[in-house]
Amino acid sequence: MKTRGAVLTEVGGPLEVLDLELDPPGAGELLVKVHATGLCHSDLSVIDGSRLRPLPMLLGHEAAGEVVETGPGASDFAVGDRVVLSFVPACGSCRRCVSGRQALCEPGAAANRAGTLLGGERRLRLPDGTRPHHHLGVSGFAEYAVVSEKSATLVPADLPFEIAALFGCAVLTGAGAAFYSAGVAPGDRVAVFGLGGVGLAALLAARAAGASQIIAVDVVAHKRELARKLGATHDVAGGPDAVEEVRSSTGGGADKVIDTTGVAAVLEQAYLATGAGGTTVTVGLPHPDRTITLPALSLVAEERTLKGSYLGSCVPRRDVPRFVDLYRAGQLPVQELLSGRLTLDEINAGFTRLASGEAVRQVVVL
Ligand SMILES: NC(=O)c1ccc[n+]([C@@H]2O[C@H](COP(=O)([O-])OP(=O)(O)OC[C@H]3O[C@@H](n4cnc5c(N)ncnc54)[C@H](O)[C@@H]3O)[C@@H](O)[C@H]2O)c1
Ligand SMILES: [Zn+2]
Ligand SMILES: [Zn+2]
Repeated sequence: MKTRGAVLTEVGGPLEVLDLELDPPGAGELLVKVHATGLCHSDLSVIDGSRLRPLPMLLGHEAAGEVVETGPGASDFAVGDRVVLSFVPACGSCRRCVSGRQALCEPGAAANRAGTLLGGERRLRLPDGTRPHHHLGVSGFAEYAVVSEKSATLVPADLPFEIAALFGCAVLTGAGAAFYSAGVAPGDRVAVFGLGGVGLAALLAARAAGASQIIAVDVVAHKRELARKLGATHDVAGGPDAVEEVRSSTGGGADKVIDTTGVAAVLEQAYLATGAGGTTVTVGLPHPDRTITLPALSLVAEERTLKGSYLGSCVPRRDVPRFVDLYRAGQLPVQELLSGRLTLDEINAGFTRLASGEAVRQVVVL
């Protein structure tokens, strides 16, 4: 069938909205009519070359839509089901999956690196016969997507698509980082560095988990204002001075610090802003060449923990329903992350706004 989608052909971009041919779903795959796909910094990192992926690639990995066809043997979903697509297909049977670490699914990670679906296939074709790669098993900046059913989670039929899409990356990653990776507990003093879609989702979850202080750090003033509206008790301008400001307002360092900037120097600041006994979590994805330098003694003498968090350490089919329930109960108001709606043809302007720090979470509505 025919579809239109936003393809990256060379590092630097721009994305080109092209007509493509889409193969029917193969074994264990679904054809999804995409209704909404969010713009995440991880897409931008592929465009600007800080995350190297095989090109050409049809981007977009935070999507929601409706199942319109099921491939042979795809039995988890029926035509008409509303699904959210998340960015690690979980095979369910590798050693990571069986130990509850679906975010680290080995075949899922291998397929994502290769730019294929979980089964190893590429289902997209350009008019010249080239087969673009899939982005993280989703390729959601398109009218239709063929995906492994292992990339999909059922969501309630009345959940708006533009909200549902956010659960696929920003909410799983940010809320999972706060709930699971950092383990925010009642009374914790929490700092969040970076207030984009992922950071603000972490802030909402820290509030829901009962943090007594939430310090919101960003270089962009209007994001700090939004963070205050969403429950931050303090806000601090990003930069080297942020460390001392977080340490003094928390009485010697925060219990849990979550870095969502993707900037290695800020991860160092996040570590330095963490107090004795505390945990520093990062979800940022800096360029693979970046390294960090930390005071080694503090790790032991202060019993500190430094953790990376991929997909918020979530299990999408367990956690999307949990987080949707919290959203419906008003405890995780993820609609506040949505800062704009775009058409597919406006996508490059959307990425310019994300790169400049102006936008929080924009969604392409299809
Ligand atoms: N680990 C995962 O599973 C996962 C999932 C999604 C995104 N990510 C990564 O997480 C990061 C955040 O994604 P996003 O979509 O929210 O990005 P974003 O661009 O919307 O947000 C990043 C924020 O960091 C702020 N920032 C930049 N420099 C700063 C500084 N020196 N001090 C304080 N704040 C600063 C920016 O102003 C921006 O608000 C990216 O690196 C992205 O690739 C990781
Ligand atoms: Zn993402
Ligand atoms: Zn697996």
